[in-house]
Amino acid sequence: MYKALRGMNDILPGISGIWQELEKNAISVLRQFGYSEIRTPVMEEKGLFVKSVGGETDIVTKEMFSFQDRGERDVVLRPEGTAPIVRAYLEANLHKTDPFQKFYYIEPMFRSERPQAGRLRQFHQIGAEAIGSLNPVVDAEIILLLAAILDKNGIKDYTIRLNNLGCHNDKIRLSEALKEQLSDKEVLLCDDCKKRLQKNPLRVLDCKKDSCRNIAKGALKSIDFLCENCKNHFAGVKEYLKGTSAEKKCINDPYIVRGLDYYTSTVFEVSHPALGAQDAIGAGGRYDNLVKEMGGSALGAVGFALGIERMLMACSKDMAVFKGSATVYVATIGEKAAKEGFKITTGLRSADIECNMNYEGSSLKSQMRDADKLGSVLTIIIGDDELAKGEIVLRDMRTKEQISVKFTDILKTVNEKLKTYNL
Ligand code: HAM
Repeated sequence: MYKALRGMNDILPGISGIWQELEKNAISVLRQFGYSEIRTPVMEEKGLFVKSVGGETDIVTKEMFSFQDRGERDVVLRPEGTAPIVRAYLEANLHKTDPFQKFYYIEPMFRSERPQAGRLRQFHQIGAEAIGSLNPVVDAEIILLLAAILDKNGIKDYTIRLNNLGCHNDKIRLSEALKEQLSDKEVLLCDDCKKRLQKNPLRVLDCKKDSCRNIAKGALKSIDFLCENCKNHFAGVKEYLKGTSAEKKCINDPYIVRGLDYYTSTVFEVSHPALGAQDAIGAGGRYDNLVKEMGGSALGAVGFALGIERMLMACSKDMAVFKGSATVYVATIGEKAAKEGFKITTGLRSADIECNMNYEGSSLKSQMRDADKLGSVLTIIIGDDELAKGEIVLRDMRTKEQISVKFTDILKTVNEKLKTYNL
């Protein structure tokens, strides 16, 4: 028997209902904040991520599903959403209509990491990107948006760990100082970090190995290398967050450096106790140089991505039990009634009413249990007696009241009843 590939999960019925709920909640918040959906292909040129995420990062060196297509071009399954969106924004000349645009995406991403709880090879992100502004108010909006999506999904107890990496020049000064500071401890670093120390010292700070993490804890902090402009920007973000519900969730964390090279200035990670200490439920920040590096003009940008699988780990237990649903359930007794029931079910579905029935000839008792389980508001019951009279019994599941309704009046009566419940 074939099995799904390691780290790539099926999203089975039951769980898929929770996904839909979570995505629906997220989309309603994203629209409220004025973000429009963008969808990009799952496969991109490898160079796109080497250039943006960075040639020395774990994602690019170890985690990309990378291969040659039939035309011998180097392609990858996208490991993240930000670089493809900047590519699409520039390729479609979206900046010409309005340089400031806000996008969201809900898409699968692929990273060949060692699978474990909350770490998959195909995972899904809900992301948002605001491209075209350097204003700290947009950083605040992005953080508020992320918090609103978590809140709307009933996810509590999360912490937003905020830091500022500084601009390109600040990062260079920090990198040089780090190189000097860590060169004393070079022998204690893992082999990868020995190379990183020479080529991209900041990457040493997000190495996942314990020995390197211990060294990173005593390392220099980006916050001490900020220029005046970056200091003001960071203060501005905090000022805009002041008094909001998200402010209570934010703490300063000078050790947030992010594992992707495109970040400058504001960076943040969202942690949650349901996940291990190393794994974030979501993360993001500014990437003010990326649009220019990809061939556009100098435009600021900021965004985040939340991991859906990790959001599910943090969801309340109520949300984790999804029972399926049917507004109207059709229960039938006998073969002839089942045929009539199928016609009624089809008719109600055509009228846009969520309707379900049992096809297995189960007992009435078990069908009524199903109706309850699916949360039906009305149940239609048909047996031989009803068939002979050309009518059905309509049971209101909330009041338990039952009335007889002619076949010809079913749709009208069902609609009237549902209207009384605002459905
Ligand atoms: P990231 O930190 O690499 O950032 O990923 C964001 C979120 O995706 C993580 O916090 C986590 O919830 C989820 N995630 C990442 N890897 C895995 C995995 N292997 N299994 C399950 N979930 C995972 C980015 O991807 C940036 N593009 C975020 C961003 C958007 N920055 C600016 N705009």
